Amino acid sequence: MKVLVVGNGAREHALACALRHSPQKPDVYAFMTSVNPGIARIAKDYSLGGICQGPEVLKYAKNTGIDLVVIGPEAPLSCGVVDYLSDEGILCVGPRQAAAQIETNKTFQRSLMADHNIPGLPRYRVFQQAGEAEQYIRDCGFDVVVKPAGLTGGKGVKIMGEHFDREGAAKYASTVLNTGLGKINEVLVEERLEGEEFTLQAFVDGENLVGMPMVQDHKRAYEGDMGPNTGGMGSYNGCGFILPFLSEKDYEEAVDIMQKTVSAIKSETGEKYVGFLYGQFMATKEGLKVIEFNARLGDPEAMNVLTLLDYDFLDVCERMAGGMLTNKFGFKKQASVCKYLVPQGYPEDPATGVEVKVNEKKIQDLGGNVFYASVSEEGGRILTSSSRAIAVVGSANCITEAEVVVEESMKHVEGELFHRKDIGTRALIEKRIDHMKKLRG
Ligand code: AMP
Ligand code: GLY
Repeated sequence: MKVLVVGNGAREHALACALRHSPQKPDVYAFMTSVNPGIARIAKDYSLGGICQGPEVLKYAKNTGIDLVVIGPEAPLSCGVVDYLSDEGILCVGPRQAAAQIETNKTFQRSLMADHNIPGLPRYRVFQQAGEAEQYIRDCGFDVVVKPAGLTGGKGVKIMGEHFDREGAAKYASTVLNTGLGKINEVLVEERLEGEEFTLQAFVDGENLVGMPMVQDHKRAYEGDMGPNTGGMGSYNGCGFILPFLSEKDYEEAVDIMQKTVSAIKSETGEKYVGFLYGQFMATKEGLKVIEFNARLGDPEAMNVLTLLDYDFLDVCERMAGGMLTNKFGFKKQASVCKYLVPQGYPEDPATGVEVKVNEKKIQDLGGNVFYASVSEEGGRILTSSSRAIAVVGSANCITEAEVVVEESMKHVEGELFHRKDIGTRALIEKRIDHMKKLRG
């Protein structure tokens, strides 16, 4: 069995590891933009190229006789790489371009929920005219969030009261339209929600959906949820499927929303949704609201769930791609914590080319795991580039114990990097619990 992983971040390193550990002992191949040293070590062979170039990926897959392709990031999905591969009969984990719009086009995502009466839709409006958007923001009377409709690498969403005041929000909506931010000439204006965010990831085979444990990511760069937004500084999950500040009912509602969304995508686009589906939810006073969907696993959230999956991951992937998903997959009844080490100055002015020394043996002895993200290897030296560098994951019987595994592991990484020490600590989790108690009474 030959499996190709497309992408070269820590999420893809974790995907490659999970595939490599399958009892079926597949040969793992990789198609990457630049060399991820962790993936290069696992892969039987790899190719460097444009991961969004369908014909290039297809050519490599055909030349190497690939049986199954697992797509990591959203960019190849948005460019229809799955369409190229599937049309040639290659099995893929990842939706076709039309179905991937659930992530790549926020207007599509919101309209789908509205048209199919899917619960959890916040108040929203879509604008193509800057003047109309500005007027609406000035008159609407509630705090808003302004979102470019297209992909912006997580940097396009701006929130009133955090990034700007009402007038700033109005001006930003104009800027989105006038500068073509997100490439789709539309801007969404939504009510600003208050609550606790969580991620629910699921396996989907076109019809059936199997949920994984809930995870909470931390988007802000600095401790105490301060500073600029990032791709995610770290994440945790509790022992079992539910986060400590949420309920079984929240989990069931989130699964129901995602299942309805999968059915709606099929009826709207004619395409079955195959692959990982990532739901970002806000648990509010009025129940769950959908922040967004992603057509892939989360980064870092993938590392929590893949670390705990207690089943042959290759079999899960084959079942997704082949439309034969069952819900017999188990996850270890453990908590996990993942934290990113990032270069000084990240995300605004990251130091690049900084050497990092990782003692993987020591980290493994502590029960930790390392996944490489945005680093390069030159002459045996690991160097940072401009983004998140190294993810460290630990698992244990509870979140705070897993957090200790991560912090102890971090001591065996040398280099000018920083990370958020508060993620997974008792103090932070209690803050979340208090917040939900206050909201829900
Ligand atoms: P998105 O790219 O849609 O995931 O948005 C990025 C971040 O903005 C989310 O993770 C939330 O923290 C925040 N956000 C998005 N939409 C809303 C909303 N309607 N209310 C409050 N915060 C939001
Ligand atoms: N951790 C956020 C994301 O993967 O989109």
